Amino acid sequence: MVGYHETRARVQRGVAGELFAKFIQGLAAKMLVHITKDFEELSREAARVTANAIRTKKDLRLGLATGSTPLGLYRELIRMHREDGLDFSRVATFNLDEYIGLPAGHPQSFRSVMFRELFDHINIPVANIHIPDGKPRENYEKYCEEYEEEIRRAGGIDLQVLGLGMEGHIGFNEPTSSLASRTRPKTLTRQTVEDNRKFFGAKEEPPHAAITMGIGTILEARRVLLLASGTAKARAVALAVEGPVTASVSASALQMHRNATALVDREAAANLAHREYYERALEMTRKLTPGRLW
Ligand code: GLP
Repeated sequence: MVGYHETRARVQRGVAGELFAKFIQGLAAKMLVHITKDFEELSREAARVTANAIRTKKDLRLGLATGSTPLGLYRELIRMHREDGLDFSRVATFNLDEYIGLPAGHPQSFRSVMFRELFDHINIPVANIHIPDGKPRENYEKYCEEYEEEIRRAGGIDLQVLGLGMEGHIGFNEPTSSLASRTRPKTLTRQTVEDNRKFFGAKEEPPHAAITMGIGTILEARRVLLLASGTAKARAVALAVEGPVTASVSASALQMHRNATALVDREAAANLAHREYYERALEMTRKLTPGRLW
């Protein structure tokens, strides 16, 4: 029989346990910053996280991004598919954005890039791939609502991979995008148009508009992985992670997300004021809540 004192001790342990769990959850509810040596290590870590998520939930709803930063992740996922049998047959993907107005099959459309860099090399059924369609249309509102509805119908995005624009944007949520924004057409800033020029021919004008998931859409993903590499991103990373939450830097909205990790290499982390703290916090997370690291 359990006596009064033992019962009380158990209750106290239970209450203390609960408080401890709350404290740990509190620790976890912030943007984790994981600084890697270089782009290679960043790509391997991003792939480890993504592969773990797929192994844990075979029908993972995976949000994907374009740009050069996730290319190392995609290369590594292809390798894991080939060498370790990583299975994408039940995974569904939702891409963040697409240019408006490029001819179908244009090599720089995000659809072409995603097939070339990832989908053509893994066993994902084409029917499970979702990328906004950037063909000019009369009713964007209806189309964009349908894209949102597809995400909802799939049960929401489990893991959203993000790159980071030079001004700190995510997707094509250019400065001053509403923090509550949903999928919609968006005019690109001059900076973004110029950043993208390198992907287009000398005589070809890069697109000036795109369809993009909104910041509100992105914030609904259960987990977010923000990737940034290289010195050119150091300013944007510091603004996103340590700056005020502001529509001028759409990635700063991730500070309000419950489970966001900024995975950045040393060069991209160079302007962060609290690097030493992030390293200790990561170590502590490894000990206390390893699940947070996938
Ligand atoms: C574009 C994309 C973003 C991407 C950004 C950075 O603006 N819409 O999703 O994060 O470029 O691209 P990169 O990774 O090439 O620096």
